[in-house]
Amino acid sequence: MKDIMIRRAKLVETDLLSELRKTKSLDEELTRAMEYSLMAGGKRLRPILLMAAADAVGVNGEKFITVADALEMIHTYSLIHDDLPAMDNDDYRRGKLTNHKVFGEAMAILAGDALLTLAFEVATRQKDVPPDILVRVISEISTAAGVSGMVGGQAIDLRSEGVHPDLSTLKLMHSGKTGALFRAAIRSGALLARADDNQLDALTQYAEAFGLAFQITDDILDVIGDAKILGKSTGSDAKKDKATYVSLTSLEEARRYAREAVDSAIDALKIFGEEADFLRELVKYLIGRDK
Ligand code: IPE
Ligand code: IPE
Ligand code: MG
Ligand code: MG
Ligand code: MG
Repeated sequence: MKDIMIRRAKLVETDLLSELRKTKSLDEELTRAMEYSLMAGGKRLRPILLMAAADAVGVNGEKFITVADALEMIHTYSLIHDDLPAMDNDDYRRGKLTNHKVFGEAMAILAGDALLTLAFEVATRQKDVPPDILVRVISEISTAAGVSGMVGGQAIDLRSEGVHPDLSTLKLMHSGKTGALFRAAIRSGALLARADDNQLDALTQYAEAFGLAFQITDDILDVIGDAKILGKSTGSDAKKDKATYVSLTSLEEARRYAREAVDSAIDALKIFGEEADFLRELVKYLIGRDK
């Protein structure tokens, strides 16, 4: 599983740079700011999940690398904006200074904007997919990225600073700010590979549980992680009095929720055989991760 992860992350990195270079830029500094965060590493999980969902349906997911690139661009933009002083005000990301620390706040905002819009330009370049399927996938991704998904979840996150919402609000926040893009990644892979309704439903359930397990682990790592390994500052949530699984329950409870989510994710894949082993392994590996 790890070998596939590393190989596909590399594949995505090479392709991301080539997609970025295909677009004519009016401003060198803006392109440098986009490239700085895009090429700073990162686990490339959303592209990897898109490909793995297609694999599970029996089609080699690497065919869909262009849509996978688009997801990574949206994710990277969300991180640049998430780190801004007006949001989480963080100094490190992916082992480097945050975008605004290097390029200034205004350029970081524009680099985020430009990555978000470039994502949709890039997605339309996906080859060998019928236009109606590609339009459906782009619609999934745009819905997931916006007010009913990631951006909506980020708004709940900001509103929850200093107040302690109930667990159902926390779940809604997590499923928006983090879950929505994972869900879009997995559903896009499934749709591109022409999954049937049963397969799509099963993969959607997996995605929901995966996103929850992933964000709970992110919350846990903010408390117990090592900033050097993580590549981002720890203690950031406590400093801003964020609502997280750890702050609303306890470290132990949070770990238990994460383990339950992993079990549900694996359970959701019961209609698949060994072609979904990568997805099973991945969710188990990710709650034990240290970065
Ligand atoms: C971090 O995402 C932000 C969250 C949504 C929790 P990742 O942990 O996937 O970050 P990278 O892409 O590896 O840097
Ligand atoms: C960020 O959640 C989610 C998005 C960027 C949409 P966090 O604020 O917890 O992510 P980190 O911990 O800064 O990576
Ligand atoms: Mg945040
Ligand atoms: Mg943050
Ligand atoms: Mg976090």
